[in-house]
Amino acid sequence: MVDYPADILGAMGNTPLVRIDRLRGGRAPTLLAKLEFYNPGGSVKDRIGISMLKAAMDEGKLRRGGTVVEPTSGNTGVGLAIAANLLGLHAVFTMPDKMSEEKRRLLRAYGAEVVICPTNVAPEDPRSYYVVARQLAAERNGFLPDQYSNPNNPLAHYRTTGPEIWRQTHGRITHLVAGAGTGGTISGAGRYLKEQNPKVQIVGVDPEGSMLSGGKVHPYKIEGIGEDMIPATIDLGLIDRWEVCSDRNAYLMARRVVKEEGFLIGSSGGAAIWGALQVCDGLSAEAVVVVIVPDGGDRYLSKLFNDAWMRDNGFLDDTSLTLLSVLEGKGDRIPQVVSVAPGASLKEAYRLMRTHDISQLPVLDEGRNVGLIEERALLARAMEDPKVLERPVSALMEAPLPEVQGGLSLEAAMRHFSKETPALLVSRAGTIIGLVSKGDIVERLAR
Ligand SMILES: Cc1ncc(COP(=O)(O)O)c(C=O)c1O
Repeated sequence: MVDYPADILGAMGNTPLVRIDRLRGGRAPTLLAKLEFYNPGGSVKDRIGISMLKAAMDEGKLRRGGTVVEPTSGNTGVGLAIAANLLGLHAVFTMPDKMSEEKRRLLRAYGAEVVICPTNVAPEDPRSYYVVARQLAAERNGFLPDQYSNPNNPLAHYRTTGPEIWRQTHGRITHLVAGAGTGGTISGAGRYLKEQNPKVQIVGVDPEGSMLSGGKVHPYKIEGIGEDMIPATIDLGLIDRWEVCSDRNAYLMARRVVKEEGFLIGSSGGAAIWGALQVCDGLSAEAVVVVIVPDGGDRYLSKLFNDAWMRDNGFLDDTSLTLLSVLEGKGDRIPQVVSVAPGASLKEAYRLMRTHDISQLPVLDEGRNVGLIEERALLARAMEDPKVLERPVSALMEAPLPEVQGGLSLEAAMRHFSKETPALLVSRAGTIIGLVSKGDIVERLAR
């Protein structure tokens, strides 16, 4: 008997279920994560891509050479694109503009066409990615799988995700925790598990701002879960309770998982795991909690795993600010190190200070930090003797500013400042890359 898959889709599913109890300091109950980024396309959505397209072809709604159009936040697009390539179909996707740049590029890499639409418009607005997809499907005589209403979406999870979890836990699962976008995962897997054991509790995790759990609708950052409408694919009756997760908790949990468990996940996985930890509190030691991690983190390097983006969104505390982040914040306003050579004239030094509106000018001798010209001292000397401006910088320079590493935290950097030291030179890998004054730090903290 051959034991290799017939094609890449044969390598889909049967994703690992791993313990993640370092997050709870090893305490009971058993907490297991179903790692859906092990699928060939990197997410849980591979399962529904093939399921929806195969069914459409079987039902005669789609033929080889035909076009598939879908509104998708990205992962469903990948799942559909893989299936479309294998089935000889052309794929077109519409996507809200809040989704990461990586996701767009990824779909294009699979050979799909991607149309970007505004995020903050009502679902029925003609510009919304739902409406644009319907229009494109009509114009191109394309098939719209519509993961939000297609029964083959939850069915894929009823046939694969649910049975895998049942088998992998030897029927010991007591709680399934999952986010819901279309609700396909939680409804399909949930239905299967409840059929095996009606006592299995199904817990939905919903972002603050989504209406699935009944809250007030407002924009949020978590990608892939939560809705501003109730999709036909979700069976709300199956869900025993909801945990509502803030953006901050989801993003910080995703970061924590990397540190403590060693793998990268997306923000919806962060939310789901945050929800699972709430569920674990108060459960008996025999409980077995399974949480679905829909995708990996390498799709979110420019957001979730980008400190500047995290800080701009208020997800990182100021204790994690470093001198480098202060320099980044200064942006292009001024060249980061304005300096003068020891052999230049004091007139040149003065001109530089005026041009850049600065009052301290480091003296660098071939990159070495050898001294400092201060505007106040220079002006005082020039008032006494105007000819001093013709003299070299080395004749008037004072002791150099302290040089510190860019990775230094602001808290540690503060200790270097004094009346005599109003600024620090910041270096990285032995090169001076900027100057940070007390004012720059206060300005950054005040943002
Ligand atoms: C990253 C991510 N997480 C979670 C989900 C939600 O899965 P479902 O639509 O099955 O509820 C999606 C769906 O698009 C997703 O892209």
